Amino acid sequence: MSSSSNTLHIADLGCSVGPNTFIAMQHVVQVLKEKYQNNNILEFQVFFNDHVTNDFNALFRSLPIDRSYYALGVPGTFHGRLFPSRSIHFAHCSSAIHWLSKCPEELLDEKSPAWNKGSIHYVDTSNVEVLNAYVAQFEKDMEILLNARAEEIVEGGMIVILSPQSSECLVKFFGSSLMDLLNVLFYVFF
Ligand SMILES: C[S@@+](CC[C@H](N)C(=O)[O-])C[C@H]1O[C@@H](n2cnc3c(N)ncnc32)[C@H](O)[C@@H]1O
Repeated sequence: MSSSSNTLHIADLGCSVGPNTFIAMQHVVQVLKEKYQNNNILEFQVFFNDHVTNDFNALFRSLPIDRSYYALGVPGTFHGRLFPSRSIHFAHCSSAIHWLSKCPEELLDEKSPAWNKGSIHYVDTSNVEVLNAYVAQFEKDMEILLNARAEEIVEGGMIVILSPQSSECLVKFFGSSLMDLLNVLFYVFF
């Protein structure tokens, strides 16, 4: 990870109002400090991101007094661009990717095989069309999220995504993302 200034930019995507985000950011800053202690990187800027409806006032009121970073709020969905190109060194996203950007339309359409009969979650497990509609929406959302971060994160930067769900769908999705990455690497080297 390199930086033209002595400031590292860290983003927490889907930060909510704390306290988990503060604990996570404290760890991230601490680890980066240890890693770059000889590199003249002395300052850290943390961008706290969440939907515009998030209670950013509550978040900022409870910022740790002894924090060793500058704090900023970035309102808006992480399903799209949030930051200038190549400006983020480390992005973190915990327990947020399972929030879909919208309800798949076919779930609400009585004529669709994926009609979810008015339920807001997957109850009738015999109807695999409902599951497929949710998976398709998740894949679209993740593609948008990862494409946006690919523009925003500096070369050599990093994104860490934590999800409490270890479903087959997630494993498949990240498996296929890794395969894409390997294909790009093979393309570069051969
Ligand atoms: C379960 S909370 C997790 C909070 C915190 N990251 C943690 O690990 O405790 C999920 C948060 O993600 C936010 N979120 C969900 N979808 C989002 C999106 N598309 N863009 C930004 N924030 C989002 C929600 O508003 C909520 O605050």
